[in-house]
Amino acid sequence: MARLGVNIDHVATLRQARGGREPDPVAAAVLVELAGADGLVVHLREDRRHIQNRDLSLLREIVQTKLDLEMAADEAMAKIALSVKPHLVTLVPERRQELTTEGGLDVAAQRDRVQHIVDLLHDGGIPVSLFIDPDTNQIKAAHRLSVDYVEIHTGRYANARRLKEEEAEFEAIAQTAKLAYKLGMGVSAGHGLNYRNVKRLTQIQEIVEYNIGHSIIARAVMIGLEAAVREMKAIIS
Ligand code: PXP
Repeated sequence: MARLGVNIDHVATLRQARGGREPDPVAAAVLVELAGADGLVVHLREDRRHIQNRDLSLLREIVQTKLDLEMAADEAMAKIALSVKPHLVTLVPERRQELTTEGGLDVAAQRDRVQHIVDLLHDGGIPVSLFIDPDTNQIKAAHRLSVDYVEIHTGRYANARRLKEEEAEFEAIAQTAKLAYKLGMGVSAGHGLNYRNVKRLTQIQEIVEYNIGHSIIARAVMIGLEAAVREMKAIIS
């Protein structure tokens, strides 16, 4: 059975919209675990647009399953990771202007820089995953860096508008997952997955974990809204 890692960045997005204390991603993490998730995922961005350093430290204290820290491959972030010691670090590309992580890390083109960060994290006893596009060259490059896991970026599959395009993306994910597994790396997948498009991917046996954020938080707003309105109505009437 595949594992589910829940990305709670967007609980923090909602909090940052008002700059206050609610909703608190730390409280959300407790509920996520109570509901049966196998891990929590957060992305500490350079611009701190959602998750803050404070969240990361508290999450490390309270998460009882697994904490996966997504971060850019740079020394300042590696320093934070080495002091917090999450259960896993996933290296992702980061561009300031992007709304979300738009593509995988180009491991083949940045080999030395990524290797340096992987080595720093490994020396600190932290396993490392690389977030990469479904491309066999990237898988081979990741393998040469001795990483423990790869996370396959499913964004193009999720955004495919035509069946033919979805087929091609599905095939690319299946092929790269098989290759990564064969090379001895653990395989996870994520980005843009929702209640409709994830099912098909579960046919790929090599993918043992899905990391899903936006669709779960979006659904939580929808299925929780009615109760929230009823509560407020009861208070004022
Ligand atoms: N995995 C990685 C490495 C990510 O960067 C993200 C987005 O932050 C996700 C999974 C989750 O993507 P989504 O929010 O679209 O489910």
